[in-house]
Amino acid sequence: MLFGPSLESSGCLLNGFGASFDGPSMKVLVTGVDGYSGWPLALHLLARGHEVVGVDSFVTRRRVREVGSWSATPIPSFPNRQKAVREVLGKELGFHRGDLGDYAFVHELLAREKPDAIVHLAEQRSAPYSMIDVHHAVATQVENLRGTLHLLYAIRDTCPKAHLVKMGTMGEYGTPNTDIPEGFFEMEFHGRKDVVPFPRQAGSWYHWSKVFDSGDVMFASKIWGVAATDVMQGVLYGIRTPEITDRRLLTRFDFDETWGTALNRFITQAVLGLPITPYGKGEQRRGFIALEDSMQSLRLAVEHPAEPGQYRVFNQFDAAYSVNELAEITARVATEFGLAPVIEHPPDPRVEAEQHYYNPVHEHLLALGYHRTRQLEDVVREIFHDLVHFRRRLEAKRHVVMPTVQWRSVDSRPALEARAPPSPSASPVGRDEPASEGPPA
Ligand SMILES: NC(=O)c1ccc[n+]([C@@H]2O[C@H](COP(=O)([O-])OP(=O)(O)OC[C@H]3O[C@@H](n4cnc5c(N)ncnc54)[C@H](O)[C@@H]3O)[C@@H](O)[C@H]2O)c1
Repeated sequence: MLFGPSLESSGCLLNGFGASFDGPSMKVLVTGVDGYSGWPLALHLLARGHEVVGVDSFVTRRRVREVGSWSATPIPSFPNRQKAVREVLGKELGFHRGDLGDYAFVHELLAREKPDAIVHLAEQRSAPYSMIDVHHAVATQVENLRGTLHLLYAIRDTCPKAHLVKMGTMGEYGTPNTDIPEGFFEMEFHGRKDVVPFPRQAGSWYHWSKVFDSGDVMFASKIWGVAATDVMQGVLYGIRTPEITDRRLLTRFDFDETWGTALNRFITQAVLGLPITPYGKGEQRRGFIALEDSMQSLRLAVEHPAEPGQYRVFNQFDAAYSVNELAEITARVATEFGLAPVIEHPPDPRVEAEQHYYNPVHEHLLALGYHRTRQLEDVVREIFHDLVHFRRRLEAKRHVVMPTVQWRSVDSRPALEARAPPSPSASPVGRDEPASEGPPA
């Protein structure tokens, strides 16, 4: 059995595969296909010749509305997204609407589809959302762990040969004062040595849910022989991938304090003429990867599956940036668009080191043939260019960009609701997002 540290010793990564892949087309189930990364992944795999079936409950659409926001890019209903795929790419994207929290649904889905690979992206993915209050913390951890456990049991019972590509996050590791290996490292204690999982020091209830998920996937791999790739992904950036050639194929761009990444919020602030606001000292460093290159990485993981019983970990990021660097790049590119943003430093609402060592290793994907295709500054320029078309949608929600959710001991829900009550008109689930407050998409 290949398990964890045996990854390198098996030689499958280091001597393995080049960038080109001539294998047979695969059937891939993408959970979270309506989301920011699930959507472009489905397009990428279809374009590559794979059969893709997606699943989603549309809970992210509902939760973004819950905090009074929306995606800057209007997102069509799922049937209209499928229609656009048909018309633009000439491909058929299968879809099942359902919640991974419903085990009967998950079991039936896997029994019917019998996928070769499952890319599991369908989780509550916002750290601030998980920090709002006890209910959001519990929902995040219960839902994320339940969905993963349901998939693991359904794989065991219906499609034991399926390869699970589970999306974790670089945030599982936290910011230790040492280099960060890919999943495992050699530990020596009281004169004895072993290769063990690298300690996780997550920074939110959301990130801890990912840590617990990792333990569950590793354990299922050990006891049932599930083939598993656990992807420690850096923060994503960008709205476009080569398959997104039509506005109807655009993916989400979230920019509110809860769902938007720091970079998305900085660009939005610059577009709206607001100060760019790195929290605290702004020396917090994280790993980042462009959306397009994340799709490349996930496709490589799918096309070069783990062995039965192998649990392998990929640190999926390209480069580390501090939030100050993100702010400076954003401000520099903004000037090319005639904007003149200032940078301000509000107090950090999170509890995190504002200055720290950060040096994660990332070699496994390179060994599979991964190569970086996008540079951060170019993608930032592309985002500015795209957001010009959706400026009015940003304007309509300019009050949701600054932080109200606090990591410290206050429930943030009252402040959040006082600032941005959910829009009563924005109720449809899985329907076209209203474009009436912006130019037609
Ligand atoms: N976006 C990033 O920068 C980033 C970075 C690291 C890791 N990740 C991880 O990548 C994954 C995908 O992230 P994303 O940014 O695409 O998030 P997203 O919220 O845009 O997409 C997730 C999709 O899954 C669906 N979903 C959630 N729970 C579900 C459930 N129980 N049943 C069915 N559908 C459900 C949502 O409706 C949504 O469409 C997540 O696991 C996230 O934690 C994201």
